Amino acid sequence: MTPQFIIRKAERDDIPKVISINLKCLPENYPEFFFYYHLDNWGDAFFVAEVDGDVVGYIMNRVERGIGFLRKSLVKKGHVVSIAVLEEHRRKGIGEALMKSGMEAMKNVYDAKEVYLEVRVSNTPAIRLYEKLGFKIVKVLEGYYSDGENAYLMAREL
Ligand code: ACO
Ligand code: ZN
Repeated sequence: MTPQFIIRKAERDDIPKVISINLKCLPENYPEFFFYYHLDNWGDAFFVAEVDGDVVGYIMNRVERGIGFLRKSLVKKGHVVSIAVLEEHRRKGIGEALMKSGMEAMKNVYDAKEVYLEVRVSNTPAIRLYEKLGFKIVKVLEGYYSDGENAYLMAREL
């Protein structure tokens, strides 16, 4: 079956919609400048998903230098800062496609050697998605979220 969505790089005009999806889908919200900052610095790894011309999902990434979680040496690490798909468009493969586009860009454009993210320990859909893509739990970050919930730090090689 041909996918009923397209993945494309985010543009400046997409950011208001990205912010509205973030607000609808996640308790982790950020000031406007934070989205533009990621677009300006790592725009080749910032993607949106479109269905019938409407943006229904996004992935915002960054690339950092530091000691790897998987290789214990100085590496470039891709960081999945935020991903969300509007509820009515879930389970169609959009989240997986956004993740794959983001990982490919972090590897090929920004030379990242691994990718990591934090996820609420209760967020089964997201954890399943990351596991499907080969991420492993590296550690538990106690009280990572503002409401006190723990995060899993998950990572995989690129
Ligand atoms: N239950 C179990 N497994 C799931 C579920 C679910 N509800 N949703 C996705 N998966 C897993 C499955 O393995 C699925 O493959 P399958 O459909 O072949 O079984 C795989 O993930 C891919 O699913 P997609 O359809 O590509 O995922 P979707 O487009 O629904 O997006 C996402 C997943 C982004 C996690 C979505 O549920 C969402 O927006 N949730 C709210 C926001 C959120 O929690 N974002 C992640 C926060 S952590 C962070 O941003 C770093
Ligand atoms: Zn993070």
